[in-house]
Amino acid sequence: MLSNKTVKACRSPDAETLAKTGHIAENDADKSIRSIADLKAQLNYAAQFRAKYSRPFITISYAQSIDGSIASRDNAPLELSGPQSWTLTHQVRSVCDAILIGIGTVLADDPQLSVRRIDGKNPQPIILDTHLRTPLDAKCVQRDDVSTWIINGETDSIATRRSLEKVSARPLTCATGPDGKIDLDALMDLLAGMKINSVMVEGGARVITSFLNARLVDQFIITIAPKLVGGLSVLNSRGLEIAQSLECDQVHYQHLGNDIIVWARPGWKVT
Ligand SMILES: NC(=O)c1ccc[n+]([C@@H]2O[C@H](COP(=O)([O-])OP(=O)(O)OC[C@H]3O[C@@H](n4cnc5c(N)ncnc54)[C@H](OP(=O)(O)O)[C@@H]3O)[C@@H](O)[C@H]2O)c1
Repeated sequence: MLSNKTVKACRSPDAETLAKTGHIAENDADKSIRSIADLKAQLNYAAQFRAKYSRPFITISYAQSIDGSIASRDNAPLELSGPQSWTLTHQVRSVCDAILIGIGTVLADDPQLSVRRIDGKNPQPIILDTHLRTPLDAKCVQRDDVSTWIINGETDSIATRRSLEKVSARPLTCATGPDGKIDLDALMDLLAGMKINSVMVEGGARVITSFLNARLVDQFIITIAPKLVGGLSVLNSRGLEIAQSLECDQVHYQHLGNDIIVWARPGWKVT
């Protein structure tokens, strides 16, 4: 029987393995992802990726200031990206099957999680919300086109669940881990079972930190905006638990307006 550790390793191919298995681009194992066209081409293989690794292909994409802040210190909404980077963010949303954020971001920003700046399909919105705190009037559960999946823990109230079902929300129960939060391995099983081949993880800090610590990232697309904020750091106080630092591979820097976009893969070494 495979141990949890083995399963996790199988689910997190290192960059070399990923390249060799042909999931980066057909007949071009060394090609890095450096544009939305490359990402789209990569995601043509996302169904095979899910079949092989039993989880969706995961792109972590967010905007930060030069000092690594993704929000102001008091969690007030903060416009970091310039208009062109915003458009890129919507392009990334539109090529992924799903977009995932934490309840902290819902409460702070009340995002719609839709594609508006380009013509493109809307991804399936997913909220990690262990205790069903999503407000019934949150924009992401007031949409006509889709029911947002609210991933919650096992012990939540039936009344809250029913109220959410009356708006555009679909509560889905998932196992929790020792920290009381949604267990990301169990979540991967859930999403793979629901045929979600690719996920864009947009934030916030706690969610990004959890995905990194679970080695659940295949591609980074990070906008660096020319601002200093001194706010909420992208890696929350837990920091990286897997290593002292994570080195990236296949790094490409793109200027977009006043911003820099970092396209990179995590340099996992499976042990
Ligand atoms: N600049 C950007 O690109 C960007 C993008 C997105 C968000 N943000 C900013 O990020 C801030 C919010 O970040 P945040 O860290 O406070 O909240 P968050 O990461 O959005 O949500 C964290 C919450 O999600 C729930 N959760 C459930 N399972 C989890 C798991 N396995 N790992 C982590 N969280 C889990 C937990 O609440 P429960 O225990 O209640 O479930 C947790 O407190 C906002 O200010 C927002 O503006 C910035």
